[in-house]
Amino acid sequence: ALENRALGSGWLGGKRRSPLQMLYDLDKGPGSPLAELHRQRRDLLRRACERHTRRQRLLQPEDLRHVLVDDAHGLLYCYVPKVACTNWKRVLLALRGYAHGDPSAIPAHEAHAPGRLPSLADFSPAEVNRRLRAYLAFLFVREPFERLASAYRNKFTRPYHAAFQRRFGTRIVRRLRPSAHPDAAGPRHDVRFAEFLAYLLDPRTQREEPFNEHWERAHALCHPCRLRYDVVGKFETLAEDSAFVLGLAGAPDLRFPPPPPRAQMAATREHAARLFRDISPFYQQRLFDLYKMDFLLFNYSAPSYLRLH
Ligand SMILES: *[C@@H]1O[C@H](CO)[C@@H](O)[C@H](O)[C@H]1NC(C)=O
Repeated sequence: ALENRALGSGWLGGKRRSPLQMLYDLDKGPGSPLAELHRQRRDLLRRACERHTRRQRLLQPEDLRHVLVDDAHGLLYCYVPKVACTNWKRVLLALRGYAHGDPSAIPAHEAHAPGRLPSLADFSPAEVNRRLRAYLAFLFVREPFERLASAYRNKFTRPYHAAFQRRFGTRIVRRLRPSAHPDAAGPRHDVRFAEFLAYLLDPRTQREEPFNEHWERAHALCHPCRLRYDVVGKFETLAEDSAFVLGLAGAPDLRFPPPPPRAQMAATREHAARLFRDISPFYQQRLFDLYKMDFLLFNYSAPSYLRLH
């Protein structure tokens, strides 16, 4: 059914340029500053991949779980939690006609409902390859430590994530506070940032299971050195970068939900800096090493508050 819809949608029949073709046109045409900016980001990503990745294992279908597919428009979107992914899922649903095309009218739980948007992991290898070749692939990234601070704040300091706190908070507290009562199973609102980081840096954590997607590194969720990404959007320039993608998708009128006001963004940044500044240089260094690939691949410099040697 997906296949039929894609074939009937116009651009595969040659009536309209696909988003990927639109990007090629922009790249060939007379200097569009935005296209140039995105070309530079792609080049930087490619060079960083060449420089910093060693031989890699073969991708398995499950590795593509985060890449969402829009066959009607020819888009692949790899979602990274804490980087406006709820809004991008809303936008992809709106593109499919949900909520009369108004992303802001789609409740968050609807946007995240499993199966609403097909994932590349659900297709056969041939079908995956066809889409990888023909579709515009994009992702949105964010300064890694700000993203981490945002995940911590959202999941461990807000009472409405009780299930999350039970699942991870209990585990973290049990491991890091040996004297805590062994069957302390109630929701944990009190996981300290330092405890959260110690849990991340504990080798047992990743041996037991992959990181939860909220703090897993963007490169491990989206495999930007294995898959070709055409647009690397950034949280820091969310409005412009989203408009760029929507323009390529032939939906320039679709309104991406407005990002938080500038003052709030600055406060979030300051909050992250405050959290990390209090961490010992030893942990800062190890944490930076853990997230280093995201810094390198997406051109984020080491934050000035880090005391690295
Ligand atoms: C990378 O970051 C530096 C420093 O912020 C900036 O000057 C440069 O334009 C960026 N390059 C790309 C390709 O984004």
